[in-house]
Amino acid sequence: MAEIIREGNLFHLRNSRISYILLVMPENALAHIYFGRRLRWIDSDQVLRSVGSGDTYCFTTQECGLNLLPQEYPSFGMGDQRIGALRVENADGSSAADLRFVSAVIEAGKPALPGLPSTFGENCQTLKMTLKDQHSNLQAELMYTVFEDCDAIARSVKLTNLSLADMKITGAMSLCLDLSDDKWDLITLSGSWARERSVYRRPLMPGHQGVSTQCGASGLQQSPFLALARKETNEHQGEAIGAALVYSGNFLAQASVYQNNAARLLLGINDADFSWALAPGEAFQTPEAVLTYSCEGLSGMSRQFHTLWEKHLLPRRWVNAHRPVLLNSWEAAYFDFDEEKLVSIAASAAEAGVELFVMDDGWFGHRDDDTTSLGDWQADKRKLPGGLGHLADRVRALGLQFGIWMEPEMVSPDSDLYRAHPDWALHIPGREGITGRHQFILDLGRKEVQDFVYQAVADTLKASRAAYLKWDMNRNFTNIGSAALPCERQRETPHRYMLGLYAVMERLVKAFPDVLFEGCSSGGGRFDPGMLYYVPQFWCSDDTDALARCRIQYGTTFFLPPSAMGSHVSAVPNHQTGRITPLETRFFVALGGCFGYELDPRKLTREEQEEMKAQVRYAQDTENTRLHGAFYRLLSPFEGGDTAWISVSRDQKEAVFTYVRGQVIANTPPALVKLQGLDPDKKYTIQETKETFGGDELMYSGVLCRVGQGDAASLRYTLKEAEA
Ligand code: GLA
Repeated sequence: MAEIIREGNLFHLRNSRISYILLVMPENALAHIYFGRRLRWIDSDQVLRSVGSGDTYCFTTQECGLNLLPQEYPSFGMGDQRIGALRVENADGSSAADLRFVSAVIEAGKPALPGLPSTFGENCQTLKMTLKDQHSNLQAELMYTVFEDCDAIARSVKLTNLSLADMKITGAMSLCLDLSDDKWDLITLSGSWARERSVYRRPLMPGHQGVSTQCGASGLQQSPFLALARKETNEHQGEAIGAALVYSGNFLAQASVYQNNAARLLLGINDADFSWALAPGEAFQTPEAVLTYSCEGLSGMSRQFHTLWEKHLLPRRWVNAHRPVLLNSWEAAYFDFDEEKLVSIAASAAEAGVELFVMDDGWFGHRDDDTTSLGDWQADKRKLPGGLGHLADRVRALGLQFGIWMEPEMVSPDSDLYRAHPDWALHIPGREGITGRHQFILDLGRKEVQDFVYQAVADTLKASRAAYLKWDMNRNFTNIGSAALPCERQRETPHRYMLGLYAVMERLVKAFPDVLFEGCSSGGGRFDPGMLYYVPQFWCSDDTDALARCRIQYGTTFFLPPSAMGSHVSAVPNHQTGRITPLETRFFVALGGCFGYELDPRKLTREEQEEMKAQVRYAQDTENTRLHGAFYRLLSPFEGGDTAWISVSRDQKEAVFTYVRGQVIANTPPALVKLQGLDPDKKYTIQETKETFGGDELMYSGVLCRVGQGDAASLRYTLKEAEA
């Protein structure tokens, strides 16, 4: 049961597996006591004495005791010299803040965060702590939620100016976690376009380490996530703490080690180019951050994230709904198509059993390449003489659903929209605009721009009656300035942009609840829990090469669930790497997420077309296990050439196991891979080989992975509980 217990000054959040404990100190400083496995009770004194001399805990605010105290929401300038969670610019120009506990309330359920994506749920409890700086009259409300069905704590902070003077927030983290030791490895996910989310693990060191973005999005290069793992922690054993930000803009995720080996985690909006003016009475709400805890290794930590997002964040309408097997036109045709060609591709896809045909970029304005027309969302009559509705009807007549691509946040300099509203693009007056992929970014902080974007998308959905929309975003922020904001508020532009984007998404998903939205940002560039509140799936990467995808998808699962990863079979030689991999391997890897195709099925051989039919059927039959089962990473492509994972249905009756051997090396024995998550007392039959094994044997001894010759050889086993 999720519960929050108050014992005097001690606040204990727990479910049956984890505890999170805070303590109000004698001078009303708020100390962090514990986060980890569930405790029945705690001698709070002991933890605090461990940071002092051992006899008494060295805490008085006058004597700079804050420098040692593990804190919940530390600030700068009043005794703690570590990097704090809060930075302000007071009316008197100083930057000190000193938050002291005032009051606390405990509520059932979980309030939403106005204007921001956040977790929700009924079987949870929420603690609201009010703190105040008596000198400046800045108030902080710290909100904590503990969930019943997953081992996660959700946190956020609301800052309110209760003074009569203006002040500024210059940094407000969503989460701070002070840990009493630094014997942890830090894990982050980093990469670039076409190689998102590689896994990096290194020991914590004195000083600062972490990741951040300033590109206006969570970004291709970093993810708003970090994990701490004990030295001995592997995928299945050992302690791990995960932290993730429910936000899609600039972020900072940092782990620091200070004196006495104390470690501090910070996670929130990147304060590098941020400030927020608070007039008297105004408030600032941070995005939500979540902490997960696992003593079942890193896969265990990931499963906590998967459960949290699936039960408490992803859109209710879609999370468990069937995700149609789709074929996307991008790698099949790029910009080079007309109605006849699309219908012919769609007809071939329909033959194979595909359920949804998606027309990607190139259908509007006069967009024959990426230099033009973003913002002019009317069908290009040269390519689609009958308009959107006509094409969509023809696709539907083939028995397919129709889906469409848009990049609504952008404007091409060569567009009617830009000619009419040049000031709608983010810009700094007098500075030359810098394009990215030949385009500018619309200033979504402005209400009239939000309305335009909403209307453009709504009109497109109405004209086509599309069942699906791929929402793309393909460039980094530059020239960050808004014509709608005064000088002293310019540094609010990136966050106001995110609030505007979320407002538009909120309106759209409400107005079109049955449209499946898939996010995209040059592939997986804004693939984060913030976007997943609105879009249940996200195009994982523009790299569709099977071996590259092993790495990308493997890393992605550290904090995002298979049900959110768009994952398609593409043609060979692969368009991003030139590599030729077996169709079977491309298929097995694409089964790791929301399954589809990114190729021209007319160009497949007859045998391949037959294979495609069987693939679609298999993907449909195993969807629930693959997307919503318990997910275990088994072999890491970052630690050897091979990759393996398994998804086990919640009732442990079915599992899909995937093994991909990266590079063949002559005269090496086949891998014996130990499976996870099965019932040791059950017997399972491998459907592909008809062999039956005990769950215990498959997990404790392993399954033999005998694959054919050549690089990127693979196998996939479907395990079903054997008939008694
Ligand atoms: C981005 C996306 C691709 C495709 C193109 C279209 O690169 O990631 O999937 O939609 O844009 O221009």
